[in-house]
Amino acid sequence: MNDPPAPHDASAHPSFKVTPWEVKGKIDYERLREQFGTSPLDGPILARLEKMLGSPLHPLLAREVYISHRDLPQALDSYERGNPFFLYTGRGPSGEIHLAHLIPFEICAYLQRKLGVNLWIQVTDDEKFLFSGAGGRTELSLAETYRLGRENLLDLLSVGFDPKRTHILFDTISIHSLYPLALEVAKRVTFSTAKAVFGFKNDNNIGSIFFTAIQSVPAFLPSARAKRPIPCLIPCGVDQDPHFRITRDVAEALGYPKPALLHNRMLPGLLGDEKMSSSADRRDNAIFLSDSPKDVQRKISHAFTGGRSTVEEQRRLGANPDICSVHALWKTRFAPEPKEFEEITRTCRSGELLCGECKGRLVPRVEAFLAQQREQRAEVEKWIDSAIERDAPTGSTPS
Ligand code: TRP
Repeated sequence: MNDPPAPHDASAHPSFKVTPWEVKGKIDYERLREQFGTSPLDGPILARLEKMLGSPLHPLLAREVYISHRDLPQALDSYERGNPFFLYTGRGPSGEIHLAHLIPFEICAYLQRKLGVNLWIQVTDDEKFLFSGAGGRTELSLAETYRLGRENLLDLLSVGFDPKRTHILFDTISIHSLYPLALEVAKRVTFSTAKAVFGFKNDNNIGSIFFTAIQSVPAFLPSARAKRPIPCLIPCGVDQDPHFRITRDVAEALGYPKPALLHNRMLPGLLGDEKMSSSADRRDNAIFLSDSPKDVQRKISHAFTGGRSTVEEQRRLGANPDICSVHALWKTRFAPEPKEFEEITRTCRSGELLCGECKGRLVPRVEAFLAQQREQRAEVEKWIDSAIERDAPTGSTPS
């Protein structure tokens, strides 16, 4: 059965809009889940994950950074029956890597480590070339998206993957592996579907309309090569879900399993934006992996919080971690111990912990994390080029 149709236009929900290329307004995640028709990542499924992966669960799972899924139980069933799923995630190289970009990669590294599964990473330099220049985005040449793709990979792979189980599809390099299946997908997606799902208009270039076919392929490629169904699990930002609704809709016609999905919410920007984004005029909205300790210090000290306007008021009424960009960072990786995280949250709400103190505690953690990431890049340099597919292995082209 197909997923319920999900209207996408801002007109359907005027207060917010979530597409792969635009996040606007204040996202109501509960309504988004209803609108997209996804399942909540709540008690029962989290308990099952904890049993499989060990306690405590990864902070990103335990602290509601991952919020919803599609068919996750089916992927776990298959794993337990001895046909492990593979993981698939990706990166569209449009700028430097910041902390929000790491979220799907960190969960993939964790699942790969715990379950010994394969990971496929797609780098969509083609996408970022095609979509650059429009909608206020900076114009990028193909040479630039290509350069950013490799540069971004070094940062993303520094999260720590098993080189033997990590495969990279870099679109403009690996296109021979991708193209035959992209054609099979493209033939089954009409222009009216693409318009309904992504809101394309007549002035969108024709490359951007085709692009979603390319993003579907890694979900099917391992099955196509093995000539047997291998389930796929895609950890991604919830903004990528529209692509994979299309992937899921065409899967059965092509004879492949529908990929399962695991969605994370958007990490808020430090300036209070809904999404940590990296536009040139708002660099202090995001913490980049290349930031110096001085940058980190400045950005966090100016960050938007859920604090009150005076100390007296905050002591009396407490602060609100639910709207705080600093608390959103604590949820990710900077307070791995559940006890410490709970203590931060509780004392924030009660007014015992003031924002300045909380920020002062976070700064060295972020600095240490960035230093550690940078160290890892040298390791990644050793294997990155051999992980990128260059020629289609036999079996990927139709015979
Ligand atoms: N389109 C994604 C982006 O802009 C990149 C991407 C490709 C991706 N395949 C993916 C992201 C699979 C998540 C999962 O960043």
